Amino acid sequence: MRLLTGIQPSGDLHIGNYFGSIKPMIEAQKTGETFAFIANYHAMTSVGEGKKLAELTMQSATDFLALGINPESSTFWVQSDVKEVLELYWILSSFTPMGLLERAHSYKDKTARGFGTNHSLFSYPVLMAADILLFSPDIVPVGKDQIQHVEIARDIAIKFNNQYGDILKIPEFRVEEHVATVPGIDGQKMSKSYGNTVNIFGEKKSQLKTIKKIVTENIALEDSKEFEGCNVYNMAKLFLDNDALLELQNRYKKGGEGHGHFKLYLAEVIWEYFKEYRVKREYYQANQNEVREILAMGANKAKILAQPMIEKLRSVSGIQY
Ligand code: ADP
Ligand code: TRP
Repeated sequence: MRLLTGIQPSGDLHIGNYFGSIKPMIEAQKTGETFAFIANYHAMTSVGEGKKLAELTMQSATDFLALGINPESSTFWVQSDVKEVLELYWILSSFTPMGLLERAHSYKDKTARGFGTNHSLFSYPVLMAADILLFSPDIVPVGKDQIQHVEIARDIAIKFNNQYGDILKIPEFRVEEHVATVPGIDGQKMSKSYGNTVNIFGEKKSQLKTIKKIVTENIALEDSKEFEGCNVYNMAKLFLDNDALLELQNRYKKGGEGHGHFKLYLAEVIWEYFKEYRVKREYYQANQNEVREILAMGANKAKILAQPMIEKLRSVSGIQY
């Protein structure tokens, strides 16, 4: 089973990203063939500054390696290092009706919210289709907002195959339904755009400061407290095993401790949880050349699949003359 996913290099990762997408991806490496790349061409639609984009790309690669992407068992690369994807993007453009892109929610949302209407934003799903179809994955794990993009990739592939025969594999999307939405410090979905995140690799002091801002009910120290529905408890739940969770529930029920105590506890739990990842991250930060070597190796592995595919497509579409 081959899985493929793209990750936009969009800055500081938060624990919603971790439980919603990174952890399932790391776990998938154990059972399937995983392809994961940093979608830096896609990020050009939102990051307008070259230096910043280059930094974000290296930072994302560093973070993903620290969090457990295994460059031996998986293929891990930066999108722009496998340029075949751009040729496929153009080939697929001729199989993409305008209406298909005009109906894309993410494009419609962004334009409605006043983002500039660049062609790159409009044709974003065609590049995403090229990312996917170049590598013939069985499954594309995505967040709910990306389902339509995978459907567009399927539509484009079907149109291409109708013309030139069964060459492109029709991908399936997979949404991690069992992964609950991680709440932010205000109880809404944790998201960069809501400013309610707890970052994975924040400084200890600023992480504690953020956790202290978690919205909780106002209740006297000595009173028994409800853990169900408490934002601190809900966040702690992600990190604790059953025994530790029962112990925390008892502390809530017993009274005598305030939410401030539970917040301190949560901050410690989160800090401990990511400890080994922080150590690995520091290692990779100090050895950026090693990160570059890993990415170059990943790009080479990806090209072994991409090149024959693009040759075949050039041939059937008459570009190879
Ligand atoms: P953000 O909302 O902070 O901009 P992204 O849209 O970049 O996050 O999400 C990257 C990945 O992390 C997606 O696969 C998304 O489904 C997952 N993710 C983001 N926030 C959460 C959350 N609060 N709970 C679960 N998964 C999340
Ligand atoms: N558009 C995806 C996102 O914003 C990132 C992405 C780019 C992607 N190419 C992909 C995801 C191919 C899966 C497959 O999250």
